[in-house]
Formats: sequence, structure tokens, C-alpha cells
Amino acid sequence: MRFRSDLAAFKPYTWEPSDRELAEAYGLEEVHRFDKNTMPFTPKGWMEELKSRLSSLDVNRYPDAYQEVREMLSEYTGVDEDGIILVNGGDEGLDVIFKALLDPGDEVIVSSPTYSLIGISTVLNRGEVREVLRRPDFRDDADAILKAVRDGTKLIALCSPNNPTANTSDRRDVLRLLESGLAVLVDEAYYEFSGKTFSDLLKDYENLIILRTFSKAFCLAGARVGYLLADPRVALELSKVKPPNSVSIFSLELAKIALEHVDEVRKYVEEVVKERDRCIKELKGIGGLKVYPSESNFILLRFEGKSSGEVHDELLRRGLVVRDVGSMPMLEGCIRFSVGRPEEDDLLLDAIKELAS
Ligand SMILES: Cc1ncc(COP(=O)(O)O)c(C=O)c1O
Repeated sequence: MRFRSDLAAFKPYTWEPSDRELAEAYGLEEVHRFDKNTMPFTPKGWMEELKSRLSSLDVNRYPDAYQEVREMLSEYTGVDEDGIILVNGGDEGLDVIFKALLDPGDEVIVSSPTYSLIGISTVLNRGEVREVLRRPDFRDDADAILKAVRDGTKLIALCSPNNPTANTSDRRDVLRLLESGLAVLVDEAYYEFSGKTFSDLLKDYENLIILRTFSKAFCLAGARVGYLLADPRVALELSKVKPPNSVSIFSLELAKIALEHVDEVRKYVEEVVKERDRCIKELKGIGGLKVYPSESNFILLRFEGKSSGEVHDELLRRGLVVRDVGSMPMLEGCIRFSVGRPEEDDLLLDAIKELAS
């Protein structure tokens, strides 16, 4: 079979190994995951509710709850429902954006380091990535981004809060970039943890697209539901390239249930934010370790004088899975971990303290 010619050299997204693979490789009885920036809570009540609704779902038909979920999302976000597109997780949202915007060879400026799938999805859609490094404190460097704009530049990609640096974008920077007239994507997958959004700018800037997901604050990573927020005219163009039925009837129902319980989501977020601040406090002041501030549900740490790979592997041996981000620009010696439940986090904090000293 002949695949597209650039596929052989293409580097796909990589995960850490599964619990089972790790347990076998390291002879572990328990594996604790801090690598996926998901929530430590399973919304059992919502699953029970889904169970009670299952028999009324017409699984023989294509899902028709899209409109209902968009109406609910309109209430949640304050964005016109015609400007909301439901997608099969935020990752499909990225694909839709690049597919709709990029002609072959068009450039996407990426405020780097950031979520690697932004670059991967650009390349898969035949675009080219131009990485512009952040400032030393990880704020987007709007000056450098604007300077990097050239003829073939189509889009500027920001992430706020940014994965893995955990800081949000500055409103003044976002406004300056929007004023350039280029399309600006703000990936707000972790918005709820920061409470800071740029969605109010959609009414003034047709060139803004915002990506959101149910995978983080809404505790539904397994359900694969995300959404895009845009000007209704932009949303119409974006939806042309999206597979029409990419979100399942079950996932839509779960999204509905979650949106009926936004108060619970807020409680989950509050709990995680409190626990995040506790973890940061515990790790601050430890020699050999730099803890960065976080406006999200994960924390970035730098081990001074130690390789992140070494730290990552040592933690793995103890059944503690974190993300090694040390090979990303600006992040030498860094690991990222998601905030979990206090008792699990304590295992990781103790191991980190030991490795740092
Ligand atoms: C910044 C960012 N955007 C988007 C996603 C994709 O989320 P999902 O496809 O689960 O909605 C992630 C997942 O980790 C992320 O970190």
C-alpha cells in the first residue's frame, strides 16, 4: 500500500505506557497516574443517570441531541448556539480548525512550548509549524509572534492555561494578536481551573476561535466530547469539514447530564484547585527544585542539575507516572504532573522531595 509521502518521517503523538504494561515492566502492584491532566473523580451519579436513560436512547438512529447540547452550552458559555460546534474531543476540534483553514504549506505560528498535538495536527493537515518561544516567565511573546508573521502565515495558536507551563495568556497580548487580522486559536481546554476566558472577545473578533473540552473539569475524558466557540459565520465554515456524526449518542447524553450538574463541576474544580495550591506549597523552597505557578490542574516542576528522563524513570519504578517534558524547548529538567487526590499526591510529593535532595 502507498501512504502519503510524508508519513514515514512523521512523529505521531505518544503516550506513557498503559497501567498494565507498566505493572508488567516494573513488577508493580499499583500504578498511580499523574500524566494525563485528567480529574481524579469519576462522576458516578452521572453514570447512574446515564444508565437510567439508556433504554430511551434510540441507538438505531444517528444521534440527534447535538442541538440540545449546543443550547445548553450556549447557556454555560454565553456564546450564541450558532457559534458552537460539538466535536469528538478537543483533538478533533484542532483537526477541524486546521482542515478548514490551511492550504498546503500555510504556516501556523505556535507559542511554544505548548500542547504538542497543535503542531502534530498542523502537519497532518499539510501545514507548517513555526514555533515562537515564550518569554522566560512563559508568557506568550506577542512581539516575537507578530515579527514572525509572513506571507504564508494563516493562524496563531495559543493555549490558555497553557499545557505544560500552566499559565494563562495575557489579555493585552491576545488583543494585539487579534488586531493582526490573522486567525487566532485559543485552546482553553483547562479554562475552568483559571476562570479566565477570551470568549467575550468573540463578538468583536471574527478571527478568534476557542477550543474547549469535557475531558478536564467535567471529568469526562473517556466520553470524548469537546466544542469550538466561534463567530456563527466562522462556525458554519468550520462545520463543513467535520464528520457530521462524530459524537456518539451516549457521549452526548453524558454531556447533557454534566451540563445539568454544572454546580458539581464547580465543586470538583474547587477541590482540585485547593489541592493544587497545597502541592505547590509543599514543594516550594525545596533545594534543587523549581515549582512554577499554576492556573490549571497540573504543575510544572524543574529539577536543577538532574535530567527529567532520570527523574521520570525513577518515579516510574515506584509506580508513579508523570509526564517528562524535558525535551520541549525551554523545559530542560522539567516534568509535569496532574493534581489528584491528596492521598495519591502525597506519594508523589514524598518521592519528588527525595529525588530533589
Ligand atoms: C491543551 C489541550 N488541548 C486539548 C486537549 C485535548 O483534549 P480532548 O481531546 O480530550 O478533549 C488536551 C488534552 O490533554 C490538552 O492538554
